[in-house]
Amino acid sequence: MRNVQVPLGNRSYAIKVGGGLLPRLGAECAQLQLGQRCAVITDSNVGKKFAKAALKSMAASGFQPVLITVPAGEKSKCMAVVEKCYDQLAAHRLERKSFIVALGGGVVGDLAGFVAATYLRGIPFVQVPTTLLAQVDSSVGGKTGVNLKAGKNLVGAFYQPQMVLCDLDALKTLPKREFISGLAEVFKYGIIYDAILFAQLERNLPKLLKREAETLAAVIARCCEIKADVVGQDETEGGLRAILNFGHTIGHAIENSSGYGKYLHGEAISIGQVAAAKLSHKLLGLLSGDAERIEKLFAQAGLPVKIKLNAAQRKKLFAAMKLDKKVSGGEIKFVLAEKIGKVCWGQKVPSDLIEQVLA
Ligand code: GLY
Repeated sequence: MRNVQVPLGNRSYAIKVGGGLLPRLGAECAQLQLGQRCAVITDSNVGKKFAKAALKSMAASGFQPVLITVPAGEKSKCMAVVEKCYDQLAAHRLERKSFIVALGGGVVGDLAGFVAATYLRGIPFVQVPTTLLAQVDSSVGGKTGVNLKAGKNLVGAFYQPQMVLCDLDALKTLPKREFISGLAEVFKYGIIYDAILFAQLERNLPKLLKREAETLAAVIARCCEIKADVVGQDETEGGLRAILNFGHTIGHAIENSSGYGKYLHGEAISIGQVAAAKLSHKLLGLLSGDAERIEKLFAQAGLPVKIKLNAAQRKKLFAAMKLDKKVSGGEIKFVLAEKIGKVCWGQKVPSDLIEQVLA
């Protein structure tokens, strides 16, 4: 098992990466000195596969777990579902020392984390991410929240988990489309922080696509190390943490304007990162060869790198971009790359240039 520490003073926590970790969930939680009562929040797909093992492990370590299952899909990331979770927590009498286990992908982690951040003004929670995307990104760093009609993640809180348990066995049964979608966040870490990782990803893509255990473990742990390093320096996104949003300005707008669910998050930010690489070439001098390497890696993984839009769809996409949380003073700000492994945040980009790279 690999152990990565997120360094946040008295809110520091461990990310544990390895095979066979779900049956150890109870034993790992027992080391955190939490209350006995807890709620495992999961969704209707993940629950079928993993809830029984999670509940069994918790009960074997002396916890009294209750199961809360929400419908699978991005639509569950909303205030109405948050309220239903509060009602169930209250019905099962969860108290201040009780805790929540978020068992699932990014939607469950963000939703359950937000419920934990706000129920009784905050109770502890543990992340057990079951998708690649959640293991390398959304379960780490304490961003929790839900969507509004007006945009993605517009309501939320920075609220750190007590532990993140990444069981690599969960990835074995992940549908191919979802696994590949997660690779878009993996590739992001190479582009924003680690040119050596990017080159390794280029070399090892066939092994990654085969989900080879050792390659996956090393890559996931490295992504978590990078995220922990960034979050440890800038927990609440005063500056540096914005680099984790590379490709997300366009990506979030694609998700929002096409109706959540048409594109998976990783697919939308794949198009967003390739567009950001092209903008980086035009505005920050990213070598054209490096912009091409970026596009090639995403394409070879089977991710979309382009989007076809008619005039009405383009208008909708730009309207969504203007609602992004990264807009400040009415200006859309981008994270752009100077070179692979080094990016700058807060970059102004003229709208016509965005149109050009999306065309
Ligand atoms: N997913 C971006 C962040 O955690 O800051």
